[in-house]
Amino acid sequence: MTIEETVENPLRVGMRSQRTPEPNTLVIFGASGDLTQRKLVPALYDLSLEGSLPGGFSVVGMARRPKTHSEFRSEMKGAVVQHSRTKPLQPSAWDAFAANIYYCQAEFNDPGGYVQLANMLQKIESETGCHNRLYYLATPPRYYSEIAKQLGEAGLTASDDGWTRIIVEKPFGRDLASAAELNRTLLSVFSEDQIYRIDHYLGKDTVQNILVFRFANGIFEPIWDRRYIDHVQITMAESIGIEGRGGYYERAGVIRDIIQNHALQLLSLAAMEPPATFEPDAVRDEKVKVLRAVRPIPPEDAQESTVRGQYGPGVISGQQVAGYREEDKVAAGSATETYLALRLFIDNWRWAGVPFYIRSGKRLPKRVTEIAIMFRQPPLALFPTTDGSRIEPNVLSITIQPDEGISLKFGSKVPGTGAALSIRPVEMDFRYGTSFGVAAPDAYERLLLDSMLGDATLFTRRDEVEAAWAFVNPITEGWTNPEPPSFPNYEAGTWGPDEADEFIQRDGRKWRRL
Ligand code: BG6
Repeated sequence: MTIEETVENPLRVGMRSQRTPEPNTLVIFGASGDLTQRKLVPALYDLSLEGSLPGGFSVVGMARRPKTHSEFRSEMKGAVVQHSRTKPLQPSAWDAFAANIYYCQAEFNDPGGYVQLANMLQKIESETGCHNRLYYLATPPRYYSEIAKQLGEAGLTASDDGWTRIIVEKPFGRDLASAAELNRTLLSVFSEDQIYRIDHYLGKDTVQNILVFRFANGIFEPIWDRRYIDHVQITMAESIGIEGRGGYYERAGVIRDIIQNHALQLLSLAAMEPPATFEPDAVRDEKVKVLRAVRPIPPEDAQESTVRGQYGPGVISGQQVAGYREEDKVAAGSATETYLALRLFIDNWRWAGVPFYIRSGKRLPKRVTEIAIMFRQPPLALFPTTDGSRIEPNVLSITIQPDEGISLKFGSKVPGTGAALSIRPVEMDFRYGTSFGVAAPDAYERLLLDSMLGDATLFTRRDEVEAAWAFVNPITEGWTNPEPPSFPNYEAGTWGPDEADEFIQRDGRKWRRL
């Protein structure tokens, strides 16, 4: 091979070039819920608008409230008007899409409901001649196991001449034991390759671009390791609060809501080895290796290896907002964390000794998710600075949202002929908006389409989800006995508790100012 040649991966050639799935029926369990209205149906409508859905595609919404097909359709129309990415609604496109939406009223634990569903599927499929089925669990998680079992008992988990798949929303369990239990139940009626566990972060274009940036470019990978990188910071800041989800959030906290899934997914993409192919299992094998190499934080170290916070009242964008404990369905003395900072190490050859700092919180000053690769200082400080400080190190920041892009910070000579040479950090900046000028699809569009295509690359595998819980579990265990921190300990609209700054400063580092 000459140096100019690139190895063309035969498995990759032509992959995903054909992006129209086979005709299928999507059954949404929990069709009256928030997710269906805000995300799923708007994403499906947007897909249909761009011609990505096959002819013979239908949706069956299943939920407990009595409703006619036409009532359900008009509810969904309202949801699409409000939440779809493309505006305004195109009436003829909507009518064509809505003609294949149906409603099935049933209690999730009633076998009769599944007989009704089977009949409905049969009727739809007799018209399309296709027997491909995709189930979507968009109910509260306590119903997941029940629905899977009922589908099994009703003989709906496989069809003779088509595929059957199931998408499972997060949260996938609330600790390692419950996640493993849910996996066992699902696997008692479906096989692993039928199960699509969603983490919507993986559907974001900017998250997928982490892999493209690292593995489709030759110049970054050689310096992507402990020899050149001092540390990595992953920030997932939200300015919103818990948005009326007090009941759920009280039991979750940021560690279950964000860290166990979204943050650890970002970590594994940023830290993984190049996969041999871009096949689903090759990619997921590498991701899971990262999670397995993360050094555990045992319960006895949980207090000092993490900083927990909870927001009190404060001001965000000029608006006074309530504290967490004042939110609906939150206990007056709640010990749930809405902010978390932690440091972890990945014990492998690439990352030995490189700290990864992760922080995430609600009611922070702004919404921003980024991965910052903080490079080491040059070995020799050749240029004296006027105040004796060190030159700022190079930083490669990958902004996942909202101002999507990638930038590289480096030091540059300030123009001038003065005796003192002055150096200032400047940036090479790539922004999706300016470079491509098109809006990225919503994460759910991508993930729904992939699941219909049978491409599980962007879904979490059983071992992956359990490895993530295996890291989180001892931390939450370690938090249960000692007194929780005295909450609230940060004001809404600030960057979290002061302890989080002290935490990273102890290592001689500081959080990026975003
Ligand atoms: C969800 C969490 O999974 O992700 C929410 O439950 C959080 O609490 C949301 O706000 C963030 O997603 P995004 O795509 O808005 O960054």
